[in-house]
Amino acid sequence: MENKKTIVMGVTGGIAAFKAAQLTSNFIKKGYDVEVIMTKHATEFIAPLTFESLTKHNVMVSTFEKVQERSVKHISIAQRADAFVVVPATANVIAKIAHGLADDMLTTTFLAASCPKIICPAMNTGMYENIVTQQNLDLLRSYGYTLVEPESGFLACGDMGKGRLADISIIEDAVEMTLVKEKPLLGKQVLISAGPTQEALDPVRFLTNHSSGKMGVALAWWAKAMGADVTLVHGPIHERIPYGIKSIPIKSACEMFSVFQEFSQDADIIIKAAAVGDYRPAQTANDKIKKNEEQFSLPLMKNPDILSWLGEHKKTNQVLCGFAMETQNLLQNAEKKRKEKHCDLLVANNLLTKGAGFGNDTNVITILSNQEIKEYPCMSKLEASDHIWQHILAIMEQKGESLC
Ligand code: PMT
Repeated sequence: MENKKTIVMGVTGGIAAFKAAQLTSNFIKKGYDVEVIMTKHATEFIAPLTFESLTKHNVMVSTFEKVQERSVKHISIAQRADAFVVVPATANVIAKIAHGLADDMLTTTFLAASCPKIICPAMNTGMYENIVTQQNLDLLRSYGYTLVEPESGFLACGDMGKGRLADISIIEDAVEMTLVKEKPLLGKQVLISAGPTQEALDPVRFLTNHSSGKMGVALAWWAKAMGADVTLVHGPIHERIPYGIKSIPIKSACEMFSVFQEFSQDADIIIKAAAVGDYRPAQTANDKIKKNEEQFSLPLMKNPDILSWLGEHKKTNQVLCGFAMETQNLLQNAEKKRKEKHCDLLVANNLLTKGAGFGNDTNVITILSNQEIKEYPCMSKLEASDHIWQHILAIMEQKGESLC
C-alpha cells in the first residue's frame, strides 16, 4: 500500500481557526493523512469534533490530562509528520515557537518535530506590525520555516490592514511545495511565460487566443516547489498565481518582449509556454472603430519573435525551453522550431489531439531535445510539467551545472 504523507496541523485561537477546517478537508480529499492539534483557545472558535469528523483521528487538545498516553502520541506524531503547518498562527503561539517554549501539546509537538514547518500568521494589524511580532517572525524565517504572509483587508476586529489569514489555496501550495523533498533548483532563477497576449485594435477590441495560462502556471508551481526563484510573465489569465511566485502581468507581445529583454540575462532557465500573438494591428485606433463599411480590412504587422531573440541571446549554460503548438505535422514543425530558435528543449502539443492544448487541465506532450524525442500520454498539466522539469534538470547536468 502506498505510504500516505502526514500533515500535522496546529490550530491556534484566532477567528480564522474555522478556515483550518476547509484546509483539512482539501488535504483529506487529496489523499493526505491529517493530524490536528489544537490549543485550548482554538476550541473556543471551532469544535475539535469538526476536525475529528474530517480526519477520522482524535484531535489532541493542549491540556495535560492523561499525560502519559498523550506525551507518547505527540512524539510519535512529530516523528511521523512530513510537514507541520500552524494555521492560523496567533502572535502568542508565534512568540512561543520562536523562543522554543513548549508548554502545551501543540508547542511541545512542534518543538519535537524535525519536518518542514509552515507558519500562517493571522491577527490584528497592530499586533502583526508590532516590532516584537516582526522580530519573532524574523526568527522563524532564520530557522528556515516557511512563512505564509497574511493578506491586507477587512479584519474581524473591524480594522483594515494586514493580518488576515492568507488564502487557503496559497497555504495549500506552500504546504504541498514543502512536501517536494528534492530542491535541485535552489538558488536558480527561472523565467516562465504563460497565457495569451492581447493586441489592441482600438480601446474596446483586441486580437487574442484561447490560452488559459494553465500550462505555464503548472511549470511555475514545480519550479518553486524545487526551490527556484520564479518569475511568471503572463498575459490576461484567470488562473491563480501559486505561492511564492513573482507575477509580471502584460497584455501585448511587445510588452512581453520588453520584460524578457530586461530579465532574461539573469535567468538560469527560461520556458516560453505562452501563446504569443504572431501579429498585431499595424495601428491602434484612439477611438472605437465605427462600423461604417460593409467590409473592413485590418492591416497587421509581425510581432517580435521573443523565443528566437532569446535563442540568439542565450548566455552560457542558460537552458531555453520553447513550446510548439501545432495542428499538423507536429514533429517536423516542432523540430524545425527547436533548431531555428536555438532551444535546448522544445515541448510540442497538437491542439487537435484529445486532452491536449488550450484550456484543459491535461495535455499530451512530446519533448524534443538534440538527443531524443519522447512522447507522453495524456496527463495533467502538473504531471506534464514534472516530466518537462526532469528533462531540463538532465540538460543542466549535461551542461555541468551544479544542482542542489
Ligand atoms: O495556456 P493553456 O490553456 O494551458 O494552453 C497551453 C498552450 C497550448 C498555450 C501551450 O502548451 C503551448 O503550446 N504554448 C505555445 C503556444 C505557441 O504560441 O506556439 P507557437 O508554435 O506559435 O510558438 C512557438 C514558440 O515561440 C512558443 O514557445 C511561443 O511562446 C514562442 N513565440 C511565438 C511567437 C512570438 N511572437 N514570440 C514567441 O516567443
